[in-house]
Amino acid sequence: MNTPNHRIYLDHSATTPVDPRVVEAMAPYWNEIFANNESAHTFGQAAASALEEARQTVADVLNCRPSEIVFTASGTEADNLALRGAAWAARQSGRGNHIVTTTIEHHAVGHTTDQLRDLFDFEVTRVPVDERGRVSPDDVAAAIRPDTVLVSVMMANNEIGTVQPMVKIGRICRERGVLFHTDAVQAAGRLPLELDNMNVDLMA
Ligand SMILES: Cc1ncc(COP(=O)(O)O)c(C=O)c1O
Repeated sequence: MNTPNHRIYLDHSATTPVDPRVVEAMAPYWNEIFANNESAHTFGQAAASALEEARQTVADVLNCRPSEIVFTASGTEADNLALRGAAWAARQSGRGNHIVTTTIEHHAVGHTTDQLRDLFDFEVTRVPVDERGRVSPDDVAAAIRPDTVLVSVMMANNEIGTVQPMVKIGRICRERGVLFHTDAVQAAGRLPLELDNMNVDLMA
């Protein structure tokens, strides 16, 4: 029977019901610890310490420093912040104008790099993938130029599930002195996110 109660939701990788443990953990922050964490009063300080505790928890999972964690409202916002920040900082310091990415990125990366090219005059090279959606590290290496400032390769694809050879690509970026960004939105919770091993500088 085709009633709403018989519908089956098959889009959990896009978004999923909030885990009841998360609902419970977040409950105090609606109306008990609600203040602006930047405010100097004790209400604000309570919010600030909750925020820093959360930052430490995430840093422990990723094995990085808490100061390296930036909270955003979505994966799209995280990709935008990382790509624009890295690109504009590189331009500001005169390091170059060229970005390497792939043909199978989520729009959060694809449209952002399109806009960096069309409105902000960055040059963008999109490395192709094979029939299984895999990016070749050799193709990434060949695409890197002396003026390349950023490489962005998604860790796991949201449509076909391909996991990219992150360790190899990261090693190439490190050897060539280029920042490495990855969209790991679909990898989080399913694959280990070893930032150091993958030589990742920026991860959404
Ligand atoms: C690979 C990938 N990157 C980015 C996003 C965007 O995340 P959000 O919907 O949180 O903006 C998604 C969303 O499904 C995704 O699958």
